[in-house]
Amino acid sequence: MSVPGQADSAAISARLLRWYDAHARVLPWRQMPGTNRADPYRVWLSEVMLQQTTVAAVIPYFERFTGRWPTVTALAAADEGEVMAAWAGLGYYARVRNLVACARAVAARGGVFPDSEEGLRALPGLGAYTSAAVAAIAFGARAVVVDANVERVVARLFAIATPLPAGKAEIRAATDSLTPDLRAGDFAQGMMDLGATVCTTRAPACLVCPLAGDCAAHARGDETAYPVKARKAARPERRGRAFWIVRDGGTDRAGVWLVRRPARGMLGGMLALPDDGWSARSDGWSVGGEDRPPISGEWRFAGEVSHVFTHFALRLELAVYSGQDWASLAPDAEPGPGGQWWPLARLAEAGLPTLFAKAARLVWPK
Ligand code: ADE
Repeated sequence: MSVPGQADSAAISARLLRWYDAHARVLPWRQMPGTNRADPYRVWLSEVMLQQTTVAAVIPYFERFTGRWPTVTALAAADEGEVMAAWAGLGYYARVRNLVACARAVAARGGVFPDSEEGLRALPGLGAYTSAAVAAIAFGARAVVVDANVERVVARLFAIATPLPAGKAEIRAATDSLTPDLRAGDFAQGMMDLGATVCTTRAPACLVCPLAGDCAAHARGDETAYPVKARKAARPERRGRAFWIVRDGGTDRAGVWLVRRPARGMLGGMLALPDDGWSARSDGWSVGGEDRPPISGEWRFAGEVSHVFTHFALRLELAVYSGQDWASLAPDAEPGPGGQWWPLARLAEAGLPTLFAKAARLVWPK
């Protein structure tokens, strides 16, 4: 990598900011370029939602959350289960628990977010990235913000050949060298927008890029070779089974048996269909093991869905209880501990994580 001198760095960040002034995406958590401040609550919430999730997917969630909980104190007072249900579909559910814990920590400080990177870092769930992003975007602090888009832009700009993840330190140092003292938040968001709309993964639009003349990868005609990534191990495939048990089927009291997942572990704390204990490390016990569904009786297979998690892919079969209807059993009978009969007509409001929502659609396409 050749590091540009200070004058080059200043020229590059000025070009980027000029581009951002003209091309900034209009996003609901954003102020117009040049404002250098934004509501920290909205910035923080958007940054947490945007981790691992696209801007397009986040916008409707963000609008719904801020409509329902317009301030950090409102979110702090919310019931955690309701926040989880509102989060359903965004994935990475451990974020929700931290979200509520962080809102409560800020509410305990009078609803005021710390305005420095270090102060933010002390809040629950705020890692290096989020603290830097909120400090820069909400408070105009000079902070070095590196997300996957920035990583790609900078790796290309400097033709950084060290494969990720080892190359991260070099990329961060290079981003630091470019980050201006003023407008660091606009700079960060400009780099993100450039990565999302111009310097894209597969087909960068170098013809319209404000930094094409500065870009070492472009000079080599080899933009898409960067960032260099270490070869990944193949994602293992796991298998499991979920269970669909309905009582009072066909009546307006129809209910489906849902369980609250343990707080720790995959999809922790979410409402879900009962399942056979599949995990990232192993198949569920019903795959090649003994079959012990939550209740004994007749079961039929309704089909299978696939879902890709970060470290593995899951094929989940859905077994439907087709024995005696629960209505004809004792009125209070329950298939197991830790669950509840959820009104089938209101299943959409249960906030099932996407995996289980997909499985439910095999038999209940609403
Ligand atoms: N991705 C993560 N944070 C973002 C932001 N503030 N603007 C655009 N894209 C983002």
